[in-house]
Amino acid sequence: LDLEARDLTTPSLLATTAHVLALPLVEDAMADPWLAALDEALGGLLERTRAEEEFSGKRGQSLLVHTHGKVGGSRVLLVGLGKGASVDEEAMRRFGGTVARVADKVRARRLAVVVPELGLDLERALAATAEGLTLGLYRFDRYLTQDRQELALEQAVLLAPGGGSQAHVLGGTRDLCRAVTLARDLVNEPASTLTPTRLSAAAREAAAAAGLSFEELGPRELAAEGMELLRAVSRASEEEPRLVRLAYTPAGPPLRKVALVGKGITFDAGGLDIKSAEGMADMKDDMAGAAAVLGALVGVAARRPQVAVTGYLACTENVVGARAYKPGDVLRSRAGLTVEVTNTDAEGRLVLADALSYAQDRDRPDELLDVATLTGACAVALGLHTAGLFTPHDDLAQSLCRAGEAVGEPCWRLPLTESLRESLKSPVADTRNTSTGRWGGAITAALFLQGFVKEGVRWAHLDVAGPAMTDKERDYLARGATGFGVRLLVRHLAG
Ligand code: BES
Ligand code: MN
Ligand code: ZN
Repeated sequence: LDLEARDLTTPSLLATTAHVLALPLVEDAMADPWLAALDEALGGLLERTRAEEEFSGKRGQSLLVHTHGKVGGSRVLLVGLGKGASVDEEAMRRFGGTVARVADKVRARRLAVVVPELGLDLERALAATAEGLTLGLYRFDRYLTQDRQELALEQAVLLAPGGGSQAHVLGGTRDLCRAVTLARDLVNEPASTLTPTRLSAAAREAAAAAGLSFEELGPRELAAEGMELLRAVSRASEEEPRLVRLAYTPAGPPLRKVALVGKGITFDAGGLDIKSAEGMADMKDDMAGAAAVLGALVGVAARRPQVAVTGYLACTENVVGARAYKPGDVLRSRAGLTVEVTNTDAEGRLVLADALSYAQDRDRPDELLDVATLTGACAVALGLHTAGLFTPHDDLAQSLCRAGEAVGEPCWRLPLTESLRESLKSPVADTRNTSTGRWGGAITAALFLQGFVKEGVRWAHLDVAGPAMTDKERDYLARGATGFGVRLLVRHLAG
């Protein structure tokens, strides 16, 4: 898709030869100058249709009107943004997503999108609209042989006041959307093709293209490092595990060092504590944390901030077999703590514990962030749109929540409840991998991870079990993987 930005003027609005000309409108503010300019050329058609269809600009409302050759464009699409006070970056992303959907439905080849002055920073508004548009066009259709439709859309022109000088913004948006698309594609790919070695190979390829350094630890290196937790989880698998390390190094001296760690369980059958059929259905998405970390590194590399960022993908399957690790096993973690396996389905925290330990010793990061589809309990608590955020550091929580809010990837902070820590005590090892009771499952998982964080390291844990996938399309998200975390992390690390 060819994206460009041009100046928004009455002549440019009337002359566009787009198949769809999209115009966002604020609720109950129908005295819009661009709507008026268009409507004058259309002899009042827009205003009449708008009144008849009771289009008032409510969020999500849209109206498509044929122009019958009275202006250059063949259809005008009015999209409601909601109340003026609620119009932010995310509203523009949703607008872009709606436009993408309608343009695709009518098989438009050329699209013009008005980005009017709405009290938002122009660059942010343009970027957000382009982002919603690009992400809204995403489909995972590589396996469709009958119903697959090539994208009809060839060109989208964003018309904004002073837009002609903002072309550079769209390059940044394209890079960011590529990073999100990469993460979505990997999560959507079935687990029998996206194995741990394939995930690692995909990371190698993406790293080469983005100018990131790449390293991988295979079975031998993992054994030499003493990563018994990660190795135990992978033992029943026919597939070799991998711990991938990616690194972005800024040109000058870094302002800070950040390490990201992603859960990369390419399929989670639960191990011997096997999941039900229903519980297993979507478990190809259990590497969404790793995909988000990879996407974030690719996105950061394109922005080049003064921050050193490393990314770790802890890749393995959690399946069943004669060699499977067993409930009751006692394992020695890389960090030295011993762990009683009380449930083989709590595998994410095991692989993350070893990866967190390695990341800290290897990089000595100031900040350590992990992203994981860690617990069903977190999705029960917060629903499918919001990630759980755990950190003892108020300022880090605030910074991550703000980044999430700005990019439309909401997080909600949950507590690291100190009194629940004793539920992880084991009589035979330093800790158990699941708590004794079933309550507070997202919290006890986070407490387990915290046990592997060293003094002085600013750590935060994002549980994305809910928002990693969506079962129905919404805004600029297609059904399936969302790429949740990529845009949040890039905003947090590179503004
Ligand atoms: N990958 C799952 C968590 C999950 C569940 C993600 C549902 C997305 C949707 C994780 O490995 C797991 O199985 N967690 C268990 C923990 C339990 C055994 C303490 C869970 O949430 O049931
Ligand atoms: Mn599990
Ligand atoms: Zn899992």
